[in-house]
Amino acid sequence: MADPILSLRGVSKNFGAVAALTDIELDIHPGEVVALVGDNGAGKSTLVKVLAGVHAPSAGVIRFGGRGVTLDTPAAAMKLGIATVYQDLALCENLDVVANLFLGHEISPYALDEVAMEVRAWTLLQELAARIPSVREPIASLSGGQRQTVAIARSLLLDPKIIMLDEPTAALGVAQTAEVLNLIERVRDRGLGVIMISHNMEDVRAVADRIVVLRLGRNNGVFDRSASHHELVAAITGASENAVTRRMERKEVQA
Ligand SMILES: Nc1ncnc2c1ncn2[C@@H]1O[C@H](COP(=O)(O)OP(=O)(O)OP(=O)(O)O)[C@@H](O)[C@H]1O
Ligand SMILES: [Mg+2]
Repeated sequence: MADPILSLRGVSKNFGAVAALTDIELDIHPGEVVALVGDNGAGKSTLVKVLAGVHAPSAGVIRFGGRGVTLDTPAAAMKLGIATVYQDLALCENLDVVANLFLGHEISPYALDEVAMEVRAWTLLQELAARIPSVREPIASLSGGQRQTVAIARSLLLDPKIIMLDEPTAALGVAQTAEVLNLIERVRDRGLGVIMISHNMEDVRAVADRIVVLRLGRNNGVFDRSASHHELVAAITGASENAVTRRMERKEVQA
């Protein structure tokens, strides 16, 4: 396999007495989707925020493209090529798709040229096989899946090497989820490393090349998508596989 584009060793993050992350190891390669899973409070969002330049790690080394980096601001992370799509998406309801795609990208050479922006927007959405009826449609009239698509497309305009998605399919219906998972595969095909946080094991196994489990702020196993539901649940909850299986069987008997 190619060298990782992003590599973490011994990364820890404390908030006062709370150890949110302890001794985390993570490698992300170009063209792979890594799912980050774990229970509430496992440290997933904290890890994403460390990589997004929001939280400075308390200890550890982060390498990007083979060299040690300090991600001390969101701008620094973005400049390096680490893009983040947060769960709330931060789109402007009343503005159309083109305006949202270029919002905050004032440095872009397209920013002042409406025609160039529209062409670029169409080209990108086409490349992503996105189902957006018109780029002049206001965000308010789009579905949840389409909004997620616009948010992901927006982060791609800066040509990142890594894109981090926090719960991209939460709150989406079946068809919209399929659309977003499809989009994630298109993004991977462009050679990006994708980090996807999800609580949905079905979605995770549908697109992830590797599944990284966090538990109580520590690494608790790496799986490929052939991992069974039971194996994943056991790693997430810390229960032994047999105990989880037994508990599930008991539930089925009761039901
Ligand atoms: N800014 C903060 N100050 C203090 N403690 C924090 C802060 N952010 C997170 N924590 C703590 O760090 C731990 C990990 O939280 P984090 O939000 O990373 O979990 P998570 O895996 O994203 O959970 P969820 O699935 O609920 O989103 C928790 O114990 C949380 O209370
Ligand atoms: Mg979280």
